[in-house]
Amino acid sequence: MAELKSYRVWDPPTRWFHWINALCVVGLVALGYLMLHGRALEISRAGGLKLKTIHTGLGYIFVFALLIRLAWAFVGNRYARWRAMLPGGREYLTALGAYLIAFFSRYHKQYLGHNPVGRLSVTAMFLLLIVLALSGVVLAGTDLFYPPLGHWMAHWVAAPGVDPATLVPGASNLYDQAALASMRAFRRPFILSHVYGYYALVAMVGLHVLGVVVTEIREGGTLISATFTGNKIIAGRPVDAEGDG
Ligand code: HEM
Repeated sequence: MAELKSYRVWDPPTRWFHWINALCVVGLVALGYLMLHGRALEISRAGGLKLKTIHTGLGYIFVFALLIRLAWAFVGNRYARWRAMLPGGREYLTALGAYLIAFFSRYHKQYLGHNPVGRLSVTAMFLLLIVLALSGVVLAGTDLFYPPLGHWMAHWVAAPGVDPATLVPGASNLYDQAALASMRAFRRPFILSHVYGYYALVAMVGLHVLGVVVTEIREGGTLISATFTGNKIIAGRPVDAEGDG
């Protein structure tokens, strides 16, 4: 039987991001669900505004963590970088084919970083997180006049003679109605991307968790504990061990 060996894989910023992001996503999805079904759940207007404000506050933490992680992919260790995350490069399709063939046979190929299927799932999740972050920041500007866009939005919709700094969400007497209608048209594609992004992210997170559990059971290893400790303990030689390119 091959000897077990411990490898250092996930660096601290990658691990911190993973769990901060997971907590933020759970919170944002739960609050988003309540807002989306506010009428059916008989949530009052004031309650809805409170939910939106808490959701947006958590959203800024989520955006901040995401920006740091996107930057870290340029400077982090080899497993945290774009090259190890994105499904591209000359050898990627060959590696994907070899991984799938091995996965459906009794033999399996072990990776320290993301395996070729994991790369697809990580890329899809990052794209969805970026869509939700960008659309969320626009909605925070148009709905609550929060930075960085709120200042311009308030100037856009304030009725003549109303100081844009005094605008409050929902106080329609303070708005210029024609400008408000234009702003609503402007925000429509963002709300659609936000809501469809939410459905797609919920589905992707489900697939991600399923993939991790199946891989952990089939391949052994320490996939889940490595997100806390940073170390993977593996028998045999992983495909992407240090010195293999
Ligand atoms: C994982 C990330 C996120 C998820 C899953 C998510 C999900 C949702 C959902 C389901 C809604 C309800 C839409 C509706 O009521 O029509 C919503 C609304 C909203 N979200 Fe997010 N969101 C995320 C991130 C963010 C971020 C980063 C921000 C801003 C910083 C943000 C700001 C808002 C705002 C302002 C609304 C209210 C839109 C409205 O009432 O029309 N969200 N979000």
